[in-house]
Amino acid sequence: MKELMQSLREASIKAINESDNPESIEALRVRYLGKKGELTAILRQMGKLSPEERPAMGQLANQLRSEIEQALELRKTMLSKIVLEKQLEAEAIDVTLPGAEQPVGHKHPMYNVLDQIKDIFVGMGFEIVDGPEVELADYNFTKLNIDEGHPSRDWTDTFYFTEDGKILLRTQTSPMQVHAMETKSLPIRMIAPGRVYRKDEVDATHSPMFHQIEGMVIDKGVTMADLKATLNLVVEKIYGAGTVTRFRPHHFPFTEPSCEMDIQCHKCGGKGCPTCKGEGWIEVLGAGMVHPKVLAGCGIDPDVYSGWAFGMGLERLAMGEYKITDLRLIFDNDVRFLEQF
Ligand code: PHE
Repeated sequence: MKELMQSLREASIKAINESDNPESIEALRVRYLGKKGELTAILRQMGKLSPEERPAMGQLANQLRSEIEQALELRKTMLSKIVLEKQLEAEAIDVTLPGAEQPVGHKHPMYNVLDQIKDIFVGMGFEIVDGPEVELADYNFTKLNIDEGHPSRDWTDTFYFTEDGKILLRTQTSPMQVHAMETKSLPIRMIAPGRVYRKDEVDATHSPMFHQIEGMVIDKGVTMADLKATLNLVVEKIYGAGTVTRFRPHHFPFTEPSCEMDIQCHKCGGKGCPTCKGEGWIEVLGAGMVHPKVLAGCGIDPDVYSGWAFGMGLERLAMGEYKITDLRLIFDNDVRFLEQF
């Protein structure tokens, strides 16, 4: 019997130490220690022993049971460690591997031009203001001295929201003049860039949505000379020193006098070329002295204060700067186009 136990000890310890998963450990427990297990089978034979032999054999059997139990326990903890290590190894992340490359975009070329213009005006003490694109006709037209019946109020040119024609998508950034005069303390130096909307068919030079930059100065003693000097300076910063400008008389209901400013074509120097459509000059903006009626309507005394304003198209400026020939390219968001800048 002693020999039986000895061989069971050797066989079981060996089997336990060779087992390689939790399920087989459980099977070994049943095989050696279970009710129908091998140790139990040996113990059944105790009856054959003499009463003197029994206690010693019983002791040996108990010892063997606890040895097997210990071996099972030990193997179990070892296996769970190995399993954990294997899992950690499998799930390990190599932090030194380079990441998957994410293509990063960049600022739209037109907004580069806008940033440049903002910098120029901020450098001259102007503030940048923002305002609503959904606007009251009051601000887009009436307060700008654009009366009922004026062609620019026509339903065929304008996106109205309501039948009564009181709310619309602004057709120009000029309502920002009124917002600024109504809310800011004097003097005012501001530019207001933003989107404007007109019912235009899309072609190489037209889009129902485009961008304008409004500019305005209100102070005591401001004259047309200030307007010209400031705009000349801006143009030289954008197009280079010595760029020639010309101011042509024009009409806007909200400025008096009004003008349009052209720059001499930077491509041909005024001789005429495709860029300036043979004109030698490129129209850049509309401007003028803020109309006394507009000032008064905003609660500013036109006998004390005066001011000038301008509005220019941003797309055209960007097209000139980057030699873009079709306006649609600016809005298409085609990466092949945008990548070039
Ligand atoms: N709002 C005018 C336009 O859209 C431009 C302008 C702005 C003219 C300010 C004079 C003063 O054509």
